[in-house]
Amino acid sequence: MITSSSIQSLRAGVIGTGFIGPVHVEALRRLGVAVTAICDVAELGTKAAAKLRIPQAFSDYRELLACPEVDVVHITTPNRFHAEMSLAALRAGKHVICEKPLAMNTRETAQIVKTVRATRKVFAVNYNVRFYPAVLQLHRLVAQGELGDIMHVNGSYMQDWLFKDTDHNWRLLPQEGGKLRAVADIGTHWMDAASFILGAKITSVFADLATWHQQRRRPLGEVQTFAKADAKMKYATYKVQTDDFASVLLRFGNGARGNLGVSQVAAGRKNCLRIEIYGAKKSAWWCSEEPEWLRFGNRDGANETAVRATPAFGDGAVGFMDYPPGHVEGFPDTFKMNFRAIYSAIAGTDNGLYATATDGHQEVAVCEAIIRSHQSQSWTKV
Ligand SMILES: NC(=O)c1ccc[n+]([C@@H]2O[C@H](COP(=O)([O-])OP(=O)(O)OC[C@H]3O[C@@H](n4cnc5c(N)ncnc54)[C@H](O)[C@@H]3O)[C@@H](O)[C@H]2O)c1
Repeated sequence: MITSSSIQSLRAGVIGTGFIGPVHVEALRRLGVAVTAICDVAELGTKAAAKLRIPQAFSDYRELLACPEVDVVHITTPNRFHAEMSLAALRAGKHVICEKPLAMNTRETAQIVKTVRATRKVFAVNYNVRFYPAVLQLHRLVAQGELGDIMHVNGSYMQDWLFKDTDHNWRLLPQEGGKLRAVADIGTHWMDAASFILGAKITSVFADLATWHQQRRRPLGEVQTFAKADAKMKYATYKVQTDDFASVLLRFGNGARGNLGVSQVAAGRKNCLRIEIYGAKKSAWWCSEEPEWLRFGNRDGANETAVRATPAFGDGAVGFMDYPPGHVEGFPDTFKMNFRAIYSAIAGTDNGLYATATDGHQEVAVCEAIIRSHQSQSWTKV
């Protein structure tokens, strides 16, 4: 049995201090893990270290990797840096938690998978959606056959933070984020969660990608993730080469079918992931905007709503919930629980729940199949 003290003896270093880096720091501290070093370009690392009270700051990630007070490296930089930093961290003898998507293409992700095998370090991809208690419970229910054989899965991941043509972020640029944007950035969260719940990989896809803003206006200078336009900003126009939204039909290895809608231009949807699992016995539905409630659909009996952490909810998330029912556990808690699982694995007890390098490689392979399918307008194998 893993105790808090065994994971609290591990020390973390975080590379990247933008939107999600500080979320990692906060989650680690809630677990009692010391964050001993942080890194970002130029003076950003030093500034973040002062604000977050982290003892060591670096502007070159290789210095953080050389730091003996770091056991686990968290990579929270834009996607284009993931492969280089992951490989270097593994070769420096560190365990790694890399943000999603794992890298820019399967050539890079395959190299990471190979290096993980050679170094025998724990390597996780931060598909944190798995650690909503309802998602863990759905995973358990499907494994136990409670919903029956799964016929089909329906869902979406909708956001609106890139709704305006003046909304800008590195994710819009293929050289920074990869050829796919909405699908790779948020769609892979849904696809990873669906595969995790079903216990089955996506084997083929039929995709339709769309770019609403063919041109966008880029504010001159750097823009923070989720930043809003400012009337005084100056802009440069550029052609958009990545998807604003997409529809994807899916086939899973267990025979289930799926359909997924993804958008980053869906006004009013801030960060809404919905998943509906339709089994031969009953259905189950969940939405990240109401994370405490797991719904069950019955053909003849009344439909049911189970509240997190009650007996009706089930025990699939035991060990990964810290608050009683009605005391909402949401987005930041999924980071804490994912890290609890990963740090437990590093300390010797792997429960097999977190996303590995192989899972991260699979998501990038699905993205590449989605591009090929969109180009050929046909069913495409992963
Ligand atoms: N799991 C999630 O829910 C979730 C949510 C948001 C972002 N992400 C992922 O996290 C990553 C970062 O996204 P973000 O929104 O925080 O981006 P961001 O732009 O807000 O932050 C990225 C940071 O990395 C820094 N950086 C860039 N190059 C660097 C380098 N060479 N060395 C050190 N630091 C460097 C930047 O200066 C910036 O501070 C992306 O891969 C993204 O997909 C995951």
